Amino acid sequence: MSLPQPCSSLFLFLLLPSLSLAQSIITGTPLLSGPYNIDSSSFLDTTTHTGTNISYPIKGFNTSIPAGATSGTGNSVPGWSLNIGITPDVSLSGSNSQDATKFFQATTISIIPPSRNQAAGIERFNESNWRVCALVFTSGLGKSETDEAEDGVRGDCRDLLPSDCVNQLQVNSVTNVAELGGGCQGIITMPTVCNDHFAARGGSDVMGFELLPISGDVKPNVDRRSTFFAAGSEAVDRGNKTALGRAQRKVWPVLLVWTHFAGDGKVHDSQGGLSCVKGVKTVDDGDDDGGDHDGDDGKDSGASLMEVVGWKMMGSLIGAAAVAFAI
Ligand SMILES: *[C@@H]1O[C@H](CO)[C@@H](O)[C@H](O)[C@H]1NC(C)=O
Ligand SMILES: *[C@@H]1O[C@H](CO)[C@@H](O)[C@H](O)[C@H]1NC(C)=O
Ligand SMILES: *[C@@H]1O[C@H](CO)[C@@H](O)[C@H](O)[C@H]1NC(C)=O
Ligand SMILES: *[C@@H]1O[C@H](CO)[C@@H](O)[C@H](O)[C@H]1NC(C)=O
Repeated sequence: MSLPQPCSSLFLFLLLPSLSLAQSIITGTPLLSGPYNIDSSSFLDTTTHTGTNISYPIKGFNTSIPAGATSGTGNSVPGWSLNIGITPDVSLSGSNSQDATKFFQATTISIIPPSRNQAAGIERFNESNWRVCALVFTSGLGKSETDEAEDGVRGDCRDLLPSDCVNQLQVNSVTNVAELGGGCQGIITMPTVCNDHFAARGGSDVMGFELLPISGDVKPNVDRRSTFFAAGSEAVDRGNKTALGRAQRKVWPVLLVWTHFAGDGKVHDSQGGLSCVKGVKTVDDGDDDGGDHDGDDGKDSGASLMEVVGWKMMGSLIGAAAVAFAI
């Protein structure tokens, strides 16, 4: 089931309360345009070939499991990851911005399915059997959590957020999951324990949308990633290190909710996992609290990630006993 057009590809400007920066955000698979309405294929080409990116392992599932009896989200399969890319100085020429001579810093987030060596038999999923929702907290984490992440912490929300917050968020994400045909919006209620730790209180900045499709029926050697999220920061002059540093230090919490349906379209089982991803740091925006300069070179992908999952199976919620996985 596709979402109505406005949900599957969103284009909007947000005012970030914490940073007072305008940004342009696009979501959907595929992205129908880049930020500020620039052409999507040239945008994706630019972000793939310039800038830096890093991948974080995530808990993902075998989306080839058909509807019905077997639990789809009981056992994860290795090899799924989230990739975040930061591309400096993307030109606003050809955009809908007033500042066509200026540039923005692009952040892209992609989901990458396992390679055939890692997990065989995971093909493009059938939308009658599976739905994968991405919920992105577009304002990022609070200032102290963002500063904390500066000291080399990556991917693991549990290093940055109270475990109660992570647990409850993930549990909440599966309690409200809709049946087949339902969407990805309104499924998250922000636990109060999380409030002080996110830049926007109460999850008012969350964008929820469906990922379609997220694993490949494509030929071998073809890039199987799906870029589902792109943010363009405010328009600035080329080479603005402050703007680039800010984009690089921002932590993006991303909650993926995987839902496997029963044959009748009811939810069979569902699992939510929160990741905190941030880009590779190459410049200092002068905004951290004496954070280290560890000479990141963009080659340190494969950072370790701990996840605490919320898991639901046929109506019973397994939350209190949420399990910690080291991937
Ligand atoms: C990540 O960076 C590498 C090296 O620059 C590049 O080959 C690759 O296409 C990039 N991947 C993504 C998802 O942007
Ligand atoms: C995924 O599920 C399909 C269909 O049940 C199966 O053929 C395949 O072997 C499974 N792959 C893995 C890695 O579990
Ligand atoms: C998807 O699954 C449904 C229900 O199991 C089935 O009827 C349909 O043929 C499948 N579609 C594809 C493209 O495999
Ligand atoms: C550089 O970027 C910062 C942060 O986005 C912004 O406040 C400043 O106005 C920019 N300067 C120029 C010359 O674009």
